[in-house]
Parts: sequence; C-alpha cells; structure tokens
Amino acid sequence: MSDLVVIGSINVDLVVSSDRFPKKGETIIGNSFNVFCGGKGANQAVSASKLGGRVKFIGAVGDDSYGTLALNNLKQHGADTSSIQILENTNTGLAGITVAENDNQIIIIKGANEKIDEAFIQPYLDVIKNAKIVVLQFEIPLKTVFYIIDYCFEHKIKTILNPAPFVPFDKSIIDKVTYFTPNETEIASMFDESYEEVLSKYPSKIIMTKGSEGAYMHDGNELVHIIPKKVNVVDTTGAGDTFNGALATFISQEMNLVDALEKANIAAGISIGKIGAQSAMPTLEEVNEYEEA
Ligand code: RIB
Repeated sequence: MSDLVVIGSINVDLVVSSDRFPKKGETIIGNSFNVFCGGKGANQAVSASKLGGRVKFIGAVGDDSYGTLALNNLKQHGADTSSIQILENTNTGLAGITVAENDNQIIIIKGANEKIDEAFIQPYLDVIKNAKIVVLQFEIPLKTVFYIIDYCFEHKIKTILNPAPFVPFDKSIIDKVTYFTPNETEIASMFDESYEEVLSKYPSKIIMTKGSEGAYMHDGNELVHIIPKKVNVVDTTGAGDTFNGALATFISQEMNLVDALEKANIAAGISIGKIGAQSAMPTLEEVNEYEEA
C-alpha cells in the first residue's frame, strides 16, 4: 500500500529571473536561467517524499528528453513511478516561469498532462482504492479530477484537492473531498462572501493559504490562523505545492490537522528561501530543526 497517491501534472520548468517583470512589448536583461523539474502534481509528490511520505504517482510524460528528465527526477526522489506512462509523439508538460519582484509569472503548455482522461485512470483504480490519501490539482483535465474524486468518495478514500491553477468549476465537488486547499485569490474567485464566512461553512475542510500570512481554517468553533515565521523570500514558486505535499504526508501519518498544518506551513516557508520549486523543498529534519529554532 502506498500511503499517498498523487495524481496530476508533471512539467519541466524553464525559469528566468530578473529584477522586475518586463512591461507588455518590452525586452529586458535577466539575471539567471535554470531548468527545473516541476508541475504541481510532481512538486507535491516530491514535497511529500522529502518529508518521508511513501508516494505513488499517477501521470504522464511525453517521449522527449524533458520526459526522461522529469521521470528520473521523481524516481531519484523516491516516488513510485510505475503508474507514470510515457506517451508517444507527445510533449512533456512545460512551464515558462519568470521570477521577479518576490513573485512569479507562469505560462503552462499542458502536453502529456492533458491526455490523462478517465480511460487513462481505469488501470489504476486499485492503486487509488488502496491509498490512505489521494492528492489532486487542476493541471490535468477537470473531468478526470472529478471522476477520481467521485471514485474516492464512493470508496471512502481521503482526498486533498488543490484547485490550482484556478478554473471555474462546480463547487458541489467540495462536499466530496476531505480537504480543499485554495489560496486567498482562488477563494475570492469562487465565493462572494469573505473568506472567514466561507471557512466557517466548511469547518476542518477548507484550508486557505494566504502567502506570507500563512494558512487559515475554521475548526467548527473558531477561525484558526497558522502563523508562519519570517523568511527571506527568494522564489515563491511551488510554495503551495510544498504545503499540499507536506499536509498529505502528515495526515497520512495520522497527525492531527492543526499539527499537520503547522508543519506544512513551516515546510512552505522554508521552500521560498531558495530558487526553484522542488530544489527548495525541505526534508523532515529541516522542518523539525526550523520548528524548534
Ligand atoms: O506551482 C508551481 C508549478 O506550477 C511549477 O512547477 C510549474 O510547473 C507550474 O505547474
């Protein structure tokens, strides 16, 4: 049994950093260029693995050199990649990322991730049924995500749904997931009420991340604010993925929700102190050291 099954995207990130974002139509000189392994699904899987989670990944790469790079990277991080397919005549997912002004801009080319449909998932239903928790995002087709959530709901498998990158969707799916982890912008796109009102309607289910302010949820009695320690921001790419992978790991280890959130928040905080998504994610030792400091 894999404790965690991550079903989602695998990308290669082409990252340029500069002092500021270019204006529309403008060319500027940047500071650095790096090729990193990314994709929200793969990032969440690596975050979980680095923290000691036993992870199986269901997804797809193309038959190009980026696919080989991404697959080897997941293997090196200890994820079980036996449910990742290499699709012929297909590009691996790519992300063009600009890092500047303590923030980022990302353009995604979906590639193989787009081909993960219900038929693709069929051979892996037993893997899903045996998971302690299944982690999903919105970088594979929404229809597939909903299909998996229905299946997990029916078989009483815990799920974490991270609605990123945000696209409008039928909110009734929130009732079927165990944990729903939007950021503040995603909450604002989905609901007319304040986030405090929204969280109180979904106690211990919706966990909202709010950048440097940490995370919030409602425990049924009151709003709980998970406050981060101050960190020097270098690159926020993948902070949400670090948080989700960490949360899944700690929940799969039967940690109580608030403790799991505290630790996931620390992991996300550490991850923004270095460039890159996966390369910046901490190990369990680093999280524990930071927590005690
Ligand atoms: O969340 C960060 C990720 O978003 C990047 O790694 C990029 O691949 C995009 O999917």
